[in-house]
Amino acid sequence: MKKLAPSILSADFSKLAEEVREVEEAGAHLVHFDVMDGQFVPNITIGPLVAKSLTGKTAMPLDVHLMIVDPDRYIPEFVTPQTEYVSVHAEACVHLHRTIQMIRSLGVKAGVALNPATPLSVLEYVLEDLDMVLIMSVNPGFGNQKFIPQTLQKVRELDAIRSRRNLDFEIEIDGGVGPGNIQEIARAGADILVAGSAVFGAEDRHGRVQDLIRLMNE
Ligand code: DX5
Ligand code: ZN
Repeated sequence: MKKLAPSILSADFSKLAEEVREVEEAGAHLVHFDVMDGQFVPNITIGPLVAKSLTGKTAMPLDVHLMIVDPDRYIPEFVTPQTEYVSVHAEACVHLHRTIQMIRSLGVKAGVALNPATPLSVLEYVLEDLDMVLIMSVNPGFGNQKFIPQTLQKVRELDAIRSRRNLDFEIEIDGGVGPGNIQEIARAGADILVAGSAVFGAEDRHGRVQDLIRLMNE
């Protein structure tokens, strides 16, 4: 069963708990939580206080996506009782293996995110240690950008590597996912599908969540 992870980047932060409950009631599986520091990416978003504020407000686990430099400094603060995944960018980690071990030692699942231009080969020697690989299908920094088509092939190749090496990490895709492409992306091998503007920007959010879930499992 594939998981839909609405990105709250496109939600209304003045009523975040309500917005999260709305998509949860429609059937969404995870809260995708985008953290940006104005250095790794040209935008600043939310931090640990907001992550902690969601504790107990939803049954959906948090999927924390750290788009920050030197993530080791802040990882423990994002491990709340609600956190299931913490992902760091390979491009932001000097000692990626150590960072992955640190995330796992905190009792949550470890993910590594790759920018569109970063090859899968950077993960060759850490794949065994990963719970999830996050393939960025836009350049990180903003919601509502256009899906970069070459990243679909990246998902297919990663799925093939996973089978060949007999591994069981999950594949997540993030950026530009919507009703027009979610089926093709799911078929390429993605297990967790992030959608921000396609969910929170929809007139009928409830219907949109249900459509996306139906399409990605078809
Ligand atoms: C982009 C973020 C994404 C973003 C996705 O840097 O990591 O999670 O919110 O938004 P959409 O689905 O609108 O492309
Ligand atoms: Zn994200």
